Amino acid sequence: MYWPKPISLAGCAVLMMSLLAGCTGTTSLAIKDGRETQSSGLEFPMDRYEARSVVVDGKATAVRAYENVVYVASPVDTTYQVMNIYVPEAYFHDERVGAFDARTAPIFFPNQVGGYMPSQPGTPEGRRDLPPGAGARGGMAASPAGAGRTPQSIPPEGIRSAGANGPGAGETRVSAIAVALSKGYVVASPGARGRTTQDAGGTYTGKAPAAIVDLKAAVRYLRYNDARIPGDAEKIISNGTSAGGALSALLGASGNSADYEPYLKALGAAPARDNIFAVSAYCPITNLEHADSAYEWQFNGVNDYKKFDMSMLDYNVQRREVAGTLTTAQIDISDALKAQFPAYLDSLGLREPQGQALTLDAAGNGSFKTYIKLLVIASAQTALDAGQNLSALDWLTVANGKVTSLDFDRYVRYAGRQKLPPAFDALDLSSGENQLFGTETIDKQHFTTFSQRRSTAAGATLADAATVKMMNPLRYIGAADASTSPHWRIRHGTKDRDTSLAVPVILAATLQNKGYAVDLALPWDRPHSGDYDLDELFAWMERISIRE
Ligand code: DHB
Repeated sequence: MYWPKPISLAGCAVLMMSLLAGCTGTTSLAIKDGRETQSSGLEFPMDRYEARSVVVDGKATAVRAYENVVYVASPVDTTYQVMNIYVPEAYFHDERVGAFDARTAPIFFPNQVGGYMPSQPGTPEGRRDLPPGAGARGGMAASPAGAGRTPQSIPPEGIRSAGANGPGAGETRVSAIAVALSKGYVVASPGARGRTTQDAGGTYTGKAPAAIVDLKAAVRYLRYNDARIPGDAEKIISNGTSAGGALSALLGASGNSADYEPYLKALGAAPARDNIFAVSAYCPITNLEHADSAYEWQFNGVNDYKKFDMSMLDYNVQRREVAGTLTTAQIDISDALKAQFPAYLDSLGLREPQGQALTLDAAGNGSFKTYIKLLVIASAQTALDAGQNLSALDWLTVANGKVTSLDFDRYVRYAGRQKLPPAFDALDLSSGENQLFGTETIDKQHFTTFSQRRSTAAGATLADAATVKMMNPLRYIGAADASTSPHWRIRHGTKDRDTSLAVPVILAATLQNKGYAVDLALPWDRPHSGDYDLDELFAWMERISIRE
């Protein structure tokens, strides 16, 4: 809870000389819910900010920008282990913004991870680590008034611009960070190490579980500094897309789990909890050790593909398509992976929200497939109700304004295969996920025994089971040693081929079955992308924040 008049080192020197007898330059007193604690190097630099103005739909919001705040005491990488924190100026003057004030404002926590690559923190104007034009652009401008003063210049509206992969032709996009600030959220966007991160000596420092450890450390920093930063650290809402969606889900699933503790300790993470309030995940590339069989369950029989260059895995970057047809050997792999899926799915014992068991027979048919089909039909119905013309799609049956049935196999062909089997644990170690599961000294590894046994890469090794576990939210949802977020919003477009529809549906059903609130939808015809429905995202965020 924000404590409006925290005591700084200077203040406490005046007020509490005797208490400070042992203070050194980097040590200060923190006040947390009225209690005093001492720590080193992790205090939020309250007075080190730049005054800025964010314009959304012509309306300006004054904010304090705290950028590149290192969130651990012993960072291994200060390019990525940093966070940008933006706070509406009104919260320093006891004023409200939208539905919130300094004590109640939720903290919007958007990561910018794509492709499991290293990622810098987000800004209201878009991503810094991408070429101009890629990603969303916001409308923030530095105030000529300088740090610590009220902004005086408000830029003309410069917010609406197309993103690289999200909005379709003619659509425009505003950055989620800019919108969040305009609605009174405090924003904390963490950077994180990724699969290619190395130190000066060439040691890999960003392999699994580094990125999730970094996000947890950033959450701990926010909670540790809750009294100093306006907003409520018990209302942290994570957001991410694709690999970032997977990390958002993992963060929400695995709160406070002891598995990550040694890594957090080594970084000097703040002594605080890392469970969060809510998760927004767009097309999460998750459940990686089962994603290969899930992919072939959906795409087996679709032998023509349009794949993307591996280096362009990241959803943020323009993708180049290469068309081809599976070889007989690849079709055999597809068949073998597809055959694994029903047993895995049945082992989960899932039920749909009305209570019906979700199962599959050996051929991959059954209530689980019907449930996914109904979700796609519901998505088509929403599009139809919004006035879209679906008459060209002859695999959909529409009668009297109602979508009554869908030919699933033809829908899958319409969506199209994008990945070659195995889609994630590539036999030649060529996938981004192979690189994610490397070690300090090994760049790429397998992470399933299926692919390890069939590996075509000389000397290929298998990631250790504990690391694979630490990257999978399903291993933590409702587990005894984890504190899982109560609120979830999961979106996966019906034209997204980066992972099987089964992946988000299994995630959502697992959460629902364990009593967590899930808002799941498969937005109509959306390809692999995120942040495309900010009005709905923020309406959900406000609903869950105000209700609790
Ligand atoms: C992303 C996309 C993928 O297809 C994948 O396998 C991993 C990550 C991404 O866009 O982040």
